[in-house]
Amino acid sequence: MLPPTPLSLLCAILLCLPLAVIFTFTAPSATNSGGAATSPLPITTTPPPTNSTTKTIQETTSLSPRKTLVQPKFKNLTAAPPPPPPPPPPPSISAEDEADDRTLFKLASRVDPAPKPVKKLAFMFLTTAALPFAPLWELYFSRAAAARYNVYVHADPGGNYTPPFGGVFANRVIPSKPTRRHSPTLIAAARRLLAHALLHDEANAVFALLSPSCVPLRSFNYTYRVLTRSRRSFIEILRDEPGAWERWAARGAAAMLPEVEFGDFRIGSQFWAVKRRHARVIVSDTVLWSKFKLPCLRDDTCYPEEHYFPTLLSTVDPRGCTPCTLTHVDWRGSRGGHPRTYVAGEVGPELIRALRKGRPRYGDERERSDGSNSSVVVRRRRDPFLFARKFSPGALHRLINISSDVIFRD
Ligand SMILES: *[C@@H]1O[C@H](CO)[C@@H](O)[C@H](O)[C@H]1NC(C)=O
Ligand SMILES: *[C@@H]1O[C@H](CO)[C@@H](O)[C@H](O)[C@H]1NC(C)=O
Ligand SMILES: *[C@@H]1O[C@H](CO)[C@@H](O)[C@H](O)[C@H]1NC(C)=O
Ligand SMILES: *[C@@H]1O[C@H](CO)[C@@H](O)[C@H](O)[C@H]1NC(C)=O
Ligand SMILES: *[C@@H]1O[C@H](CO)[C@@H](O)[C@H](O)[C@H]1NC(C)=O
Repeated sequence: MLPPTPLSLLCAILLCLPLAVIFTFTAPSATNSGGAATSPLPITTTPPPTNSTTKTIQETTSLSPRKTLVQPKFKNLTAAPPPPPPPPPPPSISAEDEADDRTLFKLASRVDPAPKPVKKLAFMFLTTAALPFAPLWELYFSRAAAARYNVYVHADPGGNYTPPFGGVFANRVIPSKPTRRHSPTLIAAARRLLAHALLHDEANAVFALLSPSCVPLRSFNYTYRVLTRSRRSFIEILRDEPGAWERWAARGAAAMLPEVEFGDFRIGSQFWAVKRRHARVIVSDTVLWSKFKLPCLRDDTCYPEEHYFPTLLSTVDPRGCTPCTLTHVDWRGSRGGHPRTYVAGEVGPELIRALRKGRPRYGDERERSDGSNSSVVVRRRRDPFLFARKFSPGALHRLINISSDVIFRD
């Protein structure tokens, strides 16, 4: 044996380098699947922490089957295991607020589930700031018969409402409580809107939840026809989405049991349009709420408002739901957990037409057991998008410019 020369050592190192690289990149996935033993889902990596300081509350509103699920390319194998999660934060809803809600919801749960004619649409805005598209909505409602709609606003008392709510929004703010992203306060706020709308007008037939960054894609009359003619609620109900396990276990490994089993846990856009009978179901619920109101151990898997409503309605009345949202959103190229936001320069007739052309994403309706082949039924559906998000406030003037010729022309 020759003693190793510097040259042969160098060659050996160079030869081994590719192997070492391959090993470094493949080994972590082995650890991942090992970690998967505790989880029924293949994806066990935790999503990157979201930067809460950069999120405004309007973002409360964003869905994100896609946003939390970026898998790191590799892990540091020698790194120490992550520290145990911090103790659960205090409840996000105070005992008094919870008691107020209970009284309100109890009252609302006694309403007649069938709407009185002539049916009305309830437009429910969930906000923490002045509504940037109020002038566009003003035009929208100016083409509606006043007897066909009601407007309700849940406005976090901590928000800045300059300019104040005027026009169709004047005096439409319901008694509102603080809301915070990554917390069940968003569920509670939506339920308050439903409860007030149920109690306020027995003609309210369909209840649509909207965010400040939502805009209409169609005229009022078109939207009215679509929503009142459907016998079903429109609510996205997806199952087996990546990351579902982490979201289900966000309050602790078995915290949701026994009320909400993992197999019943669903995800969907926060923006739905539900029929009156389902609005009543939602305000009457105490069972699922007892679990969903628990604070999460960490924020980055905590989107209760994207789970509570689809889980509840898919449990109670899957056949009464068309499992999609009619609020268009674009998650392609999303940044930091935000969906694409259209700025003024992008807004024109082409954008509106392109958004209208989209086909909603339909959930799997495997739950349906009425004998029909539901996957075929859903595959043939092509419900029209009625709203879209997110638009930056600066896009208002462009939207108004094309409103009568494009947006309100169907
Ligand atoms: C969050 O974003 C802010 C503003 O961009 C930045 O100053 C801060 O360092 C970020 N925090 C983290 C944890 O990334
Ligand atoms: C991996 O983790 C160990 C132990 O925490 C640390 O000393 C090392 O610097 C880390 N390496 C990299 C590349 O982060
Ligand atoms: C919308 O529908 C109502 C009731 O059918 C009708 O009176 C009104 O003219 C319609 N508005 C427009 C702009 O078509
Ligand atoms: C329903 O239709 C789909 C698509 O044609 C097919 O793949 C599936 O097997 C059918 N399911 C049943 C239960 O017939
Ligand atoms: C929209 O903008 C164009 C170009 O700036 C202008 O010519 C047109 O009159 C505007 N239309 C309306 C309805 O404001």
